[in-house]
Amino acid sequence: MSEFWWERADLRYESGRLVFAGCDAAALAEEADGPLYLYSAARIQANLDRVAAALDTTGCAHRIYYAMKANRNPALLAMLAMTGRCGIDICSPRELDHALAQGFGADQISFTGTGVSRRDLAHLLAHDGLTINCDSIGMIRRIGEQTPGRAIGIRVNPARGVGYGDSERLTYAGARTTKFGIYREQWGEALAVARQYRLRVTSLHFHVGCGYLNDQLESWEAALAAGLSFLDDLPDVRVVNIGGGLGLPHRATDRPLDLALWAGLLRRHFAGRTLEIAVEPGDYIVKDAGMLILGVTNVETKRDTLFVSVDGGFNLHPEPVFYDLPCEPVACAPRGADRATWRDCTIAGNINEALDLWAEDVTMPPLEEGDFIAFLNAGGYGAAMSSDHCMRGAFQEILLD
Ligand SMILES: Cc1ncc(COP(=O)(O)O)c(C=O)c1O
Repeated sequence: MSEFWWERADLRYESGRLVFAGCDAAALAEEADGPLYLYSAARIQANLDRVAAALDTTGCAHRIYYAMKANRNPALLAMLAMTGRCGIDICSPRELDHALAQGFGADQISFTGTGVSRRDLAHLLAHDGLTINCDSIGMIRRIGEQTPGRAIGIRVNPARGVGYGDSERLTYAGARTTKFGIYREQWGEALAVARQYRLRVTSLHFHVGCGYLNDQLESWEAALAAGLSFLDDLPDVRVVNIGGGLGLPHRATDRPLDLALWAGLLRRHFAGRTLEIAVEPGDYIVKDAGMLILGVTNVETKRDTLFVSVDGGFNLHPEPVFYDLPCEPVACAPRGADRATWRDCTIAGNINEALDLWAEDVTMPPLEEGDFIAFLNAGGYGAAMSSDHCMRGAFQEILLD
């Protein structure tokens, strides 16, 4: 039994120091001399393999498109392209250029974007072989005008969805009307526009939320069934893209998603259909394969709260603040293992914003200026969503073996 819920073979304390992917986290942070993202190529590949192995059990042809929006680090993308084990999901023209530059071919790329402009489309349509999923009737019409007869995908909104801990902010389809995909209410019009321009609808797409775990599988199955019901009107569809959203534990009380259960639901719902299943996970592939290491700059009690200040703020990784998806703070080289010395504290960033707190009321070992804290599960939507707010956006990234 591990002492900490997050420990695993490639992420654990060895002789009192945090070791990640075979490297001493504090030693690397010392060298970096500033905020540092570490990623593990081996963990990323293991995550990818786990999803592929689960999909193998569905009895269907399948393809994984890694969602670039989660992490677009060039070395990481080039490594994924080299494996040949996944394609890539993109959502903007610049992501298309980036995917091509890192070694993915157009036929390995699937685009699903929102608010897509004519200018965006001109860029996308120049690449034959690219899968383009339409998120609105206007997008179908504009593609029809520019390239009548083209093959397209349609993103539908099954009006059912899921999100980590049933979070509404992470739910993309559900009771609340969202901007994503085409609803049943507008479905007839969407099909008519596709017909008008002789567009062949060869793939069906739905992405219903982010971060779902076992507790959300029942709702996810309902969304899956509702999404698949659109197939009745789509005789040319060969591929169903079920989106991403596969979650991972963020808190000690979270249990990992049971991929065997997940794949069992796919097997049941795809039985008897000769369709390829496409999946576009981002977080599941990279999130637990990355950490952000920040240095302690000050430790001080204010009124009755012990504040530990670090040299990086929420702008380096906005997801915990935006979506309440915490990054577990872990001391890289705890001073003393005696739990009696650990104290409750608030870990604060270096941005002049009241919300800039990494963790509140968290129990940490004694810390001093110059120590390092690793924020776990920072491999997804961290660097990719960072900003230069307060001109404190600088960080380094290292892809470890
Ligand atoms: C269309 C689409 N596909 C895939 C993803 C990846 O989601 P996740 O990283 O939760 O797997 C997203 C994320 O928002 C998305 O919008």
